[in-house]
Amino acid sequence: MSTLPHRILQVGAEVYPLVKTGGLGDVLGALPSALARLGLDVRLLLPGYPALRKPLTGVRSVCRLGPAFGAASVQVLLGRLPGLEVPVYLIEAPSLYERPGNPYLDGSGEGWADNPQRFGLLGWVAAYLALGDIDPAWRPQLVHGHDWHAGLASAFLALHPSTRCRSVFTVHNLAFHGLFPQALMPTLQLPESSFVSDGLEFHGEGSMIKAGLHYADAITTVSPSYAREIQTPAFGCGLEGVITQRRAQLHGILNGVDYAVWNSATDPRLETHFDARHPERKAAAKAALQRQLGLRVDPGAMLIGVVSRLTPQKGIDLLLEVLPALLNDNVQLALLGSGDADLEAACRALAVVAPGQIVARFDYDETLAHRIIAGVDVIAVPSRFEPCGLTQLYGLRYGSLPLVHRVGGLADTVVDADDKALAADTATGFVFDALTTTALEQAAQRALALYRQPDRWRQMMRRAMTQDFSWGGAAVAYADLYCRVLAAEPERWRPAASAA
Ligand code: ADP
Ligand code: GLC
Repeated sequence: MSTLPHRILQVGAEVYPLVKTGGLGDVLGALPSALARLGLDVRLLLPGYPALRKPLTGVRSVCRLGPAFGAASVQVLLGRLPGLEVPVYLIEAPSLYERPGNPYLDGSGEGWADNPQRFGLLGWVAAYLALGDIDPAWRPQLVHGHDWHAGLASAFLALHPSTRCRSVFTVHNLAFHGLFPQALMPTLQLPESSFVSDGLEFHGEGSMIKAGLHYADAITTVSPSYAREIQTPAFGCGLEGVITQRRAQLHGILNGVDYAVWNSATDPRLETHFDARHPERKAAAKAALQRQLGLRVDPGAMLIGVVSRLTPQKGIDLLLEVLPALLNDNVQLALLGSGDADLEAACRALAVVAPGQIVARFDYDETLAHRIIAGVDVIAVPSRFEPCGLTQLYGLRYGSLPLVHRVGGLADTVVDADDKALAADTATGFVFDALTTTALEQAAQRALALYRQPDRWRQMMRRAMTQDFSWGGAAVAYADLYCRVLAAEPERWRPAASAA
């Protein structure tokens, strides 16, 4: 058995807590450290946004490059970021990355016009680290890229004549493609020969996500159900053909939860704490939330929470349609979201007609996200599609029972409170099948009926709070996959707790 830890480079575009727009940030903030705890030699490569450059400590310049990808100069730095157990490479290219606000969007909510160059460079640096040209002191054996931002890494590696480095590509959301015009192929240092349908071309444009899907040695996505769904036209976003062709290399590995960050018993963002042994203490978190948001402080109201990007993916429009019918049943809603202007307007309109009962905040606020997930009775995730979904997993740990559409990772993580599951004490939430307002409303009514039976509700809360979705299991699954891709003998990966 090999005793050398495998050198794995993780590549992505955001990382909790410094730069985060959604679940990808949470994953990149936790998975590299979880892999390192198994004994792998892991490093992380990220764009040098100011929010990452400033807190980087122990900084060493490992390589200076000339003009590339539209940047006048590029430098690769190595250092440490707070909260991450692995060393971090940052690409310093001020003209590409030093911009205020969102990592992907300009002030008007459009993708930055030079996103192909910004993330093309990310993939290129990843590949050339693996080829040994950037840091002679550390050369990864495998590059693991996340989402379209890192898709070109797999292409550069596969297209290079002499690489021995392998790549794994993880799809977090197939809806975002990273498209670019053919005219940019030379700027992106891609050979014209790859601009074919059996390459990275997609309907006349280049596609970074297709590059990852086509060229990686193995593909993963973030739940087993989504791995099946994306092979169909309904969920494949036009890429179901290439995914189906590669189904033998496709794996569904469910995301984990970082319980150091999301834990009702210890969460520093909460004023009161609770756990499965004392679920009744959650009442204080609920009252505090109702007070903070200006909801009627009423322990008897069933408080539904939403913490979400406001996009059609998340199905919030369905929830808004159903809510008026629930208002007479003493239901409340606390929503925190940002994104689509029409959805924001619809939330605002509803909040106006039911003050004290519906509150919507349009912001990106990590502390309020924790307080909502902790304080509500039900966390609603009625998504049209959901590759994994993390808020329902966080809700489980905080005894906030998920109300979810049976799709993707939601289907894989929530056990519906049907008669059988209730009798067996395995139920953890409310799952509806058809994507209709009727089905959603019926599931909400089922939740309400159980909410009015406090003993049964508390039993479900306990079951939910004792679910274990920690990162250890996912890290072992990735480590095993890396071994298979490297054709190396699998280590006997063990969770850190028993590895001493
Ligand atoms: P997605 O990645 O599709 O947005 P996930 O459920 O995987 O969905 O992850 C969403 C993450 O983003 C969670 O950590 C959630 O708490 C966070 N989040 C979403 N919207 C907001 C917001 N408006 N403010 C703070 N955190 C948010
Ligand atoms: C994506 C998906 C979400 C998933 C997250 C992390 O943003 O929409 O379902 O949980 O990535 O993998």
